[in-house]
Amino acid sequence: MTDQTGGEPLVLGIETSCDETGVALVRGDTLLFDAVASSMDEHARYGGIIPEVASRAHLEAMVPTIRRALGEADADLSEVDAIAVTAGPGLVGPLTIGASAAKALSIGLGKPLYGVNHVIGHAAVNQLVDGPFTERAMALVVSGGHSSLLLVDDIATDVTELGSTLDDAAGEAFDKVGRLLGLPYPGGPHIDRLAREGDPEAIRFPRGLTARKDQAKHAYDFSFSGLKTAVARWVETCQDAGREVPVADVAASFAAAVVDVLTAKTIAACRAHDVDTLVIGGGFSANSQLRDMAAERCAAAGIDLRIPPIRYCTDNGAMIAALGSAVVRAGVAPSDLDIGVDSSMPLTAITV
Ligand code: KG4
Ligand code: ZN
Repeated sequence: MTDQTGGEPLVLGIETSCDETGVALVRGDTLLFDAVASSMDEHARYGGIIPEVASRAHLEAMVPTIRRALGEADADLSEVDAIAVTAGPGLVGPLTIGASAAKALSIGLGKPLYGVNHVIGHAAVNQLVDGPFTERAMALVVSGGHSSLLLVDDIATDVTELGSTLDDAAGEAFDKVGRLLGLPYPGGPHIDRLAREGDPEAIRFPRGLTARKDQAKHAYDFSFSGLKTAVARWVETCQDAGREVPVADVAASFAAAVVDVLTAKTIAACRAHDVDTLVIGGGFSANSQLRDMAAERCAAAGIDLRIPPIRYCTDNGAMIAALGSAVVRAGVAPSDLDIGVDSSMPLTAITV
């Protein structure tokens, strides 16, 4: 597909899988504008995302956010060549609001619709920042909802999931440990801050799925629930003995256990698949312990590390427009207008 003047198509991307309403315009690998509205403030007092509150917020924010993206990009709806939308994974109600808006635009404008995978979008957005993937790349997507290791041969058509978390996602584990340490929701950024003041070697917490017996079946899978329980027990024992909990050391030792496993397995996967470009994405890639350890270990292994700025790591419209743009340019067939949304959309589906 080309645009209306024979150039690269202009793709409008819509993201609503969780609490962020994201709308962006991308042409080729160039981001024209990315507008995001978040309902996080409305969820903070509940200690978690309330899907119905998020859905209503998406419904209210959708048209203003589309208008803002078009205005800032100095583009008109009539110039849009294709519409990409998150089809899953995510929360059904929020996903449905985005898909409905995208279908309405597709019908109204007479332009094709592409339902795309949110997790793969977290890897695709990197191309807007650091340029196209010129060869096979590894992607580690870590957030509150997912921790997946992906082998990317072609972001539009050929992505293989090498491993994922068997229980909690990395950000989710941080949020749960944050709760048990009495930190506000979401706990991830608070633990990050505290961990910078603590000793990562103070307590030796377990590294999930790294035992020799797990190598065959779970070489690239993660598990953080045992670690979370170990932290809870350690804190309880400390409190029962009447000692003050050394919160910064607990945070630093816990963070070290999570990022040690994430980076060690990812680099082992790069080596095993002869890959020397690693992309990290997802909200948890804001974590400074992960950034530091990944930088150090990638430098030692000769791997080119790509982590976009934080605003492109958290959920946004640019990631969906970026993947939509890649899919459109690869000549993938558009989605039918009767597609549904899939809360647990598998990584075997880049589009629906
Ligand atoms: O990608 P994202 O915005 O939403 C999901 O798709 O989940 O990720 C949010 C997650 C939350 O669990 C949050 O606590 C975590 O990422 N997070 C962090 C940091 N910033 C965000 N976790 C640890 N350290 C951080 N600096
Ligand atoms: Zn996400």
